[in-house]
Amino acid sequence: MVAPYTEPVALPEPRLVDPARVPSLRWGILGPGWIADQFASTVRANTNQRIVAVASRTPGRAQAFASAHAIPLALASYEELVAREDIDAVYIANLPSGHHDAAMLAIDAGKHVLVEKPLTHVITEAEDVFAHARERGILAMEAMWSRYLPQFDVVRQLLEAGAIGEPRLVLADFCQDNRLLARMWLPGDGSPLWDMGIYPIALCQMVFGEPAGVNAHGIMLENGMDAESTTHLIYGGGARATITVSGVVDVPQHASIAGETGVIEFGLPFFVPSSVGLARKGFNAPMDYWFDESGIRGHAGLAYQVTAFADYVGRGLLESPLHTHADSLACLRTASEISRQLGIAAT
Ligand SMILES: NC(=O)c1ccc[n+]([C@@H]2O[C@H](COP(=O)([O-])OP(=O)(O)OC[C@H]3O[C@@H](n4cnc5c(N)ncnc54)[C@H](OP(=O)(O)O)[C@@H]3O)[C@@H](O)[C@H]2O)c1
Repeated sequence: MVAPYTEPVALPEPRLVDPARVPSLRWGILGPGWIADQFASTVRANTNQRIVAVASRTPGRAQAFASAHAIPLALASYEELVAREDIDAVYIANLPSGHHDAAMLAIDAGKHVLVEKPLTHVITEAEDVFAHARERGILAMEAMWSRYLPQFDVVRQLLEAGAIGEPRLVLADFCQDNRLLARMWLPGDGSPLWDMGIYPIALCQMVFGEPAGVNAHGIMLENGMDAESTTHLIYGGGARATITVSGVVDVPQHASIAGETGVIEFGLPFFVPSSVGLARKGFNAPMDYWFDESGIRGHAGLAYQVTAFADYVGRGLLESPLHTHADSLACLRTASEISRQLGIAAT
């Protein structure tokens, strides 16, 4: 029997790493496009990390990026950047089909690597990157940045404390009209499932681990890309998740975790700094909230991930405890199975 709701509940405060107390790494950026621009802005504003070089294979791009972000060095080759002695860590922000080669270059040169999501569409490439980094004693981390946001720590604490009892159902979606975003529709690099759906998949992985069953259906485009899809994920013990992804319509990105005794509701969008609601079971049950009042909004939230990365380097970790190599691989396997069922073109 579920206890009736009586008093408001104070949600826990997030356990944040102080950016001033982690090593101030010297970073290089490979593939300075849209996300690298967000990264560089928040690194300057919200961390004690230093970006010392940027490299682009597109003529002129590294120089323009370096000027915009006051980065001392702009290079025309990835090889040149990773070879530099004055760089500790490399942020790999090109498209997924280029992540493996860029990561291997950086690891060969002894640099820690933060690789944009999805790490790749090819699981053996991810295995390769993680194994190579491990052999070399290097931190390799897929940039699943939502994991490091304050609201995710609030949710982790609620789950650990049993605030909703045993989690039974996750509902999550990422639907955004990205029809004009060219890279979204490139086989092997884009696909709403691989690019956007990886967030709901990663949330489900955090709550339940890897699914035992996957059942996907969707609307496909002529070029073999997925326009929209809904997937049911089934876990041992009967827990389940439903995730919906669309690259053609906008829906506020929602996520909730329902348990035996209550429900956790992320604020919108669930994977950028927002809020957390907690309610007991029951029709129209009142919800108590934790709100992110840090002032860090939108993609400035990438700062938490960068600080966590530097903390892990300082502690000699080879993988993120919040999104392990096994988690990354499991998410990629889930995406791969959905992709197979939908018939998404690989290249
Ligand atoms: N964390 C997030 O919230 C978030 C948001 C958006 C994207 N992402 C991820 O970040 C990565 C980059 O996305 P983005 O939007 O920043 O990409 P982008 O601006 O389109 O391009 C980034 C870099 O990728 C390379 N590139 C772009 N188009 C290419 C092509 N047609 N062929 C070969 N290389 C190409 C270029 O590298 P060079 O400069 O070396 O030529 C470019 O600078 C993707 O993995 C994406 O999923 C993450």
